[in-house]
Amino acid sequence: MTEASWERRHVLSLADFTAAELETVVQTAVSFREVLSRRTRKVPALQGVVVTNLFFEPSTRTRSSFELAAKRLSAEVLNFAPGTSSLTKGETILDTAKTYLAMGTNLMVIRHQESGVPQAIAQEMDRLGSGVGVLNGGDGLHSHPSQALLDLFTLTLTLDPDNPSSTLLKGKKIAIVGDILHSRVARSNLWCLTACGAEVHLAAPPTLLPPGLAEAFITQSPLAIPRPIYQHSTLTPALAGADFVMTLRLQKERMTQHRLPSLREYHQHFGLTRDRLEICQPTVKVLHPGPVNRGVEISSDLMDDPVLSLISEQVTNGVAVRMALLYLLGVGKGE
Ligand code: NCD
Repeated sequence: MTEASWERRHVLSLADFTAAELETVVQTAVSFREVLSRRTRKVPALQGVVVTNLFFEPSTRTRSSFELAAKRLSAEVLNFAPGTSSLTKGETILDTAKTYLAMGTNLMVIRHQESGVPQAIAQEMDRLGSGVGVLNGGDGLHSHPSQALLDLFTLTLTLDPDNPSSTLLKGKKIAIVGDILHSRVARSNLWCLTACGAEVHLAAPPTLLPPGLAEAFITQSPLAIPRPIYQHSTLTPALAGADFVMTLRLQKERMTQHRLPSLREYHQHFGLTRDRLEICQPTVKVLHPGPVNRGVEISSDLMDDPVLSLISEQVTNGVAVRMALLYLLGVGKGE
């Protein structure tokens, strides 16, 4: 198992991830994918490690995927559900995290509707000298690292199933379409894809992609590497010649203002259909992090297309990638 280029205690954002670290995640996920294809899909790598899922915001795939990943690594898993917890009695989030620490938690996976909560818990865990590793399972509009990493893994497997590597993304054109304003998935993908040398084209109506977002992103980069990001207010220039197209859910629950005339009109201009993909590379594939609004950001038949759509593969690959992350942060903690 490769452990090259890995010194992190937490995974909170991909903004400062180097190409070498991304490759470590990909290669570790390759090993675990092989484990998942065996008859006994389990390894003792994290025996004795306690993984706690602290999901303060709803989730289907991310929470279940982290849970399954932890179980496949033989870790013990605790799942926190805010509705039935002492949060309803006024306990603070930090006190909740400290309660799980006192039970012997080694790794915490945290999702919260506010940006910065996983970071705050990680700081507190460090201040206490606890040795706990924190994984961001999605915070507000900020970051969703495990989703971008499973997207990366899916792209590399599509480009070369026998020898997947993040280096294969160099020079590839990737379009990200839709509700970029509210998308932590898009933000994490921007860091990840550009660190691998891909060229990213964003397309959305200006209400969902504020002018200057791409420039702001480039100037905020903590690493001195080129980040080729282009932004468009129509679909065609983003799709022309694209190798991959990633579409995003319209996050109606985060929309504080009326940002779209109608869902029908949105689909007419930005919805992905088989016809619209004709100007992409002939080998183009479509991704979506889910959950999907069928017929809004993507047509129902394209979503279910077994050749063009990678949506199910993304979910499957999520388990191997989350095994990789839990392993990289948790190995040795159960002893
Ligand atoms: C995303 C999320 O929660 O940020 N979903 C996911 O984790 N697969 C995207 C979304 O909610 O639209």
